[in-house]
Amino acid sequence: MTTLDIALPEGLTAERLSTQHPFLLVHAEAGVPFDEWTRQHRDALRAILLRHGAVQIRGLDLNKQRFGAMGKILEPEAIDYTGGIGPRHLVEDDVFTSTDLPPAVGLASHNEMSYGSIWPMRVLFFCEEAPESGGATTVCDARRMFDCLPTEIRDEFLTRGIRYVRNYSKRVPYKTIQETFGTTDREQIDAFCKKNNIETQWLGDDALQLRQYGPAIRKHPETGDSVFFNTLALWHPAYWLDIMRRVYPGAPEPQTANDLWQDAQYGDGGEIPFTVVMHILAAYEEQEYDVSWQKGDVLYIDNMLASHGRKPFSGKRSILASFRQPLKASDIQAD
Ligand SMILES: [Fe+2]
Repeated sequence: MTTLDIALPEGLTAERLSTQHPFLLVHAEAGVPFDEWTRQHRDALRAILLRHGAVQIRGLDLNKQRFGAMGKILEPEAIDYTGGIGPRHLVEDDVFTSTDLPPAVGLASHNEMSYGSIWPMRVLFFCEEAPESGGATTVCDARRMFDCLPTEIRDEFLTRGIRYVRNYSKRVPYKTIQETFGTTDREQIDAFCKKNNIETQWLGDDALQLRQYGPAIRKHPETGDSVFFNTLALWHPAYWLDIMRRVYPGAPEPQTANDLWQDAQYGDGGEIPFTVVMHILAAYEEQEYDVSWQKGDVLYIDNMLASHGRKPFSGKRSILASFRQPLKASDIQAD
């Protein structure tokens, strides 16, 4: 760790997590109640978050209930995860497991719910139980990702955007329709999807395709920065197909495009070449920072300034998540 070279508000101590990344580690004062500390430093934390993108907070006396309360103090409004793609479950009010995927599955960097018409501007993670081995949460500067992409890749996304496709069927061993929407009632699902700009196509009694559209690059509404903001790498089969084969060896091999759990295409339906996705994955790997966890740590992320992912792990690990400060795509302009 290095000494911080920026002025911090009185009462906050922080360090840069590494020399190569903008992310900070803030030490809470020992013995100060979590709610008092959070109220006292809320505005300062928000301000440094807008500059640094992600802040790890260490030293508060937290459990999952207190983490939920802390999230509410920092960002009063939470987002409902109905319709979200990640397998997770609710553990407290507005507090979810970070993912229910098996430990051997890593998650490529992504901006939470950026495939949708509404997403959380702030994501909070909490370490309820530190990983025994591996299991870092990765964070990656979305401005740097925008800057480092070759012009030809960037321009293609700027022109064409992304189409996100999901397929639900008995052949797909992933999150079910019921788990995604809390119901299997077609009318309710169609109504929800219409309201949220999700195209639905029922392909059978329990087979459903969802399609959503979004840009790959946006401007941050507060800082004005151009940011690489999407879930392309995570959704593209170039990333997950190989993982599926290793982790779910019994899963049937996709025979048609409708057998793919999830897919990311250009917005006009054109295929995004595997080579483009591999380039983006390599850029994430080069740019991202591994946040290592101690029990009780919080990671406070501006979801448009930093993407996140996770490394595989073994043994126990419990990282919880809260998604806060909803923003509608219709309220900001695409870049
Ligand atoms: Fe996520």
